[in-house]
Amino acid sequence: MDQPGAVDSLLQEDRVFRPLPGLVMEANVNPQELAAAYQQAAHDPEAFWETAALELEWFKRWGKVLDESQAPFCKWFTGAKCNIVHNALDRHIKTGNKHRLALIWEGEPGDIRKFTYFELYRAVNRLAGALRSLGVAKGDRVVIYMPSLPETVIAMLACAKIGAVHCMVFAGFTGRALKDRLRDARPKCLITADGFYRNGRVVALKAALDEALHDDRDAVDVCVVVRRANLEVEMNPDRDVWYDDIVRHEKPEAHTEVMDSEDPLFLLYTSGTTGSPRGIVHSHGGYMVGVHHTLTWVFDIKPTDIVWCTADPGWITGHSYVVYAPLLAGTTTLLYEGHPLYPQADRMWHITAKHGVSVLYTTPTTVRMLMRYGSQFPRQHDLASLRLLGSVGEPFNPEAWVWFYQTIGRGECPVMDTWWQTETGQIMLAPMPVGLLKPGSVSKPLPGIEADVVDRAGNPVPPHKGGLLVIRRPWPGMMRNVWNDPAAFRAYFEKIPGVYLAGDVARRDEDGYFWMQGRADEVINIAGHRLGTAELESALVSHRSVAEAAVIGVPDKIKGEIAKAFVTLRDGFEESEELGKELKDHMRRELGPVAELKSVKFRADLPKTKSGKILRRLLKAEELGTDPGDVSMLDEE
Ligand code: PRX
Repeated sequence: MDQPGAVDSLLQEDRVFRPLPGLVMEANVNPQELAAAYQQAAHDPEAFWETAALELEWFKRWGKVLDESQAPFCKWFTGAKCNIVHNALDRHIKTGNKHRLALIWEGEPGDIRKFTYFELYRAVNRLAGALRSLGVAKGDRVVIYMPSLPETVIAMLACAKIGAVHCMVFAGFTGRALKDRLRDARPKCLITADGFYRNGRVVALKAALDEALHDDRDAVDVCVVVRRANLEVEMNPDRDVWYDDIVRHEKPEAHTEVMDSEDPLFLLYTSGTTGSPRGIVHSHGGYMVGVHHTLTWVFDIKPTDIVWCTADPGWITGHSYVVYAPLLAGTTTLLYEGHPLYPQADRMWHITAKHGVSVLYTTPTTVRMLMRYGSQFPRQHDLASLRLLGSVGEPFNPEAWVWFYQTIGRGECPVMDTWWQTETGQIMLAPMPVGLLKPGSVSKPLPGIEADVVDRAGNPVPPHKGGLLVIRRPWPGMMRNVWNDPAAFRAYFEKIPGVYLAGDVARRDEDGYFWMQGRADEVINIAGHRLGTAELESALVSHRSVAEAAVIGVPDKIKGEIAKAFVTLRDGFEESEELGKELKDHMRRELGPVAELKSVKFRADLPKTKSGKILRRLLKAEELGTDPGDVSMLDEE
C-alpha cells in the first residue's frame, strides 16, 4: 500500500518539535484542558459538541444534539433555529467588536480595502436587500463565480443571511466545468465580476461566463456583475445588472432569516472518482459549530489575531477558514486577490509584514514554491507578527515543513498541518498548538473525532502499516447530502459499512500520529486542488481526435502531483507534438486553467479489465517504474 514517489520521505521522519512555554501559557486550551477534552469527548461526544455549540448564539435551542435515526443522514442540533450570519456579523455589532477590522483585502496591483464588522455588516445587508428585491428567496441557489474580492465574501454572507444557498464556483474553472455545475445547481441568480488581476494580467471572468452560457442563455434569470478590473463587458439587458446599481438604494439594515439548524447553507462542488462533480451540501447549525470550534482550538484564535488563510474562497478552505470561522470568532481575516509570486517572490512576506498577520494558513505547494527562492526574500521582511502557521490540502514533506517552521516561523511558530476535506467541512486531524509536532504528520484526530486506519474489510491495521482512513462517528460539520444525488452520499458510508470512508491512504506510528499518504482512489490532487480523473477524461474525449483517454497523477516536486494523460486516437488522426499541445489547450478551454495537463502520451490501446474499465493503476506503475502490486490498494472503482 505504499504510495510511490513524492511522499516517501514522510516515512523516515523522526524529528519532534515542542511548543515554546509562552505559547503554552497563553493558549486557549492548555495541555490539562486538552487531555480532559479528549477524555470527555471520548466518553460523551454529544456533551462535548454541545459545549462547543453554546459558544455561539441560537434563536432557539436544540431538542437533541445528534439525531442518528436516519443514519448516515445525521442531523445535528435538531429543532434549533439559527443563522450563521447572525453569529458571523449581527452579534458583533452589539459588542466591542463593532469597530474592529473584520476584513482586510489586498488587490494584486496593491490596492487595499478594509472593512470593520460594522461596515461589512452594512455592505452585506445592502446586498441581502438587493437579492431579495431581485426575487431571491430562502432555499434558492445563488452561484457565485468570483475571484478573491471583498464582494465575494459579501455575496456569500448576503446569501446566507436571506437563507439562500450559495454555490461558489472557483474562478479557475471555465467552459464545461462551469456549465455542468450550473446545470446541477439550477441557480436563481449568478454573481460574477468583470475580471480580476492574476500574475500581472487581467483575467476576463464575465466573458468566460458568457461563453459558457452562450447556448443556454436562460440558465439563470439574473446575473449580478461586480466591477473590479474596469473591463468592457457585454451586458445582456434582460439578465445582467451591475452590483453597484442594485445595492446603491438598498438600506444598510436587513432582516436575518431564521433558519433551521439543518437548513442548507451552501453547496460546493468537488470531484470524485466517477461521474460529474458532486455538490456537497453543508448546513447552517452544525457547520457553524464545527468551523468555529476548530479554528478557535487549532489556531488558538484570539480577537486580536489577523488570520491569513491563503485559500481562494472558491474552495472549501476558503469557505471555512477565510470567510466563516474567522468572522464567527470575531477576528480579522485577510484576503489577497493575486499570485504569490507577483511582482516577485516576496509578495507573501510583504503582505504579512505590512498587515501584521499573526496566523498564516497555506498549502505545501505554496511553501515549496517559495522555498525554491531561498531565504533572502523572507529575510527582507519583518515577520515577527507571526505566531502560528498552518497547512492544508496535501501531504507536507518534512523538508518543506522544516523550512516553513525555521525560516518563516523563526523556529517559534508551531505548524498546524490540518487534514480535512470538502465533505468534512471542518478540520478533523491536526496538532494542537500545545502539542508535540512531527514534521510531515497531521498529528491526531481532534477531540470529538474518531478516526482509524483500516483494511478494506474495515479491520484496524497495526502501526506503520498503510490503510484506509475512516471516521467512525458523526461530527457537526459533516456534509448533509450530495445535491441531487443521495446515493453518492450514501456511498461514502457503505463501502465499509457504518463508517465514513475518506478516500485517503494513511498510516499511524507507534505514538498514534497519523501520516497521510495521498488519495486511495483516482482523485488527483494538483497543488492542493482536487480534480477527478472522470471529469478530466471526459473533457479529453470531447476532442474530435480522441477515442479513449486515461489521466493519472504523477509526483511533482512543487505541486505534489501533476496530471498526465494517455490517449488513443480515432481513425484518421496521427499522433504529433502539435496534437498533444492542442489537447492540452482543449483541456484548458473545456475545464479552465485549473485543469492543467503536464503531458499527453499517445498509445495504441489502454490497459483494461475484462469488464472494460481502464486500469489507471497499471499506467501509473508503468510510468513510475514500480511494481503494480505495490499500488494494489489504489481503488479500481
Ligand atoms: O487527499 C486529502 C487532501 O485533500 C483531500 C481533500 O480535498 P478537498 O476536498 O479539496 O479539501 C482540501 C482542503 C480541506 C483529502 O482527501 N488533504 C487535505 N488536507 C491534507 C491532505 N493530504 C495530506 N495532508 C493534509 N493535511
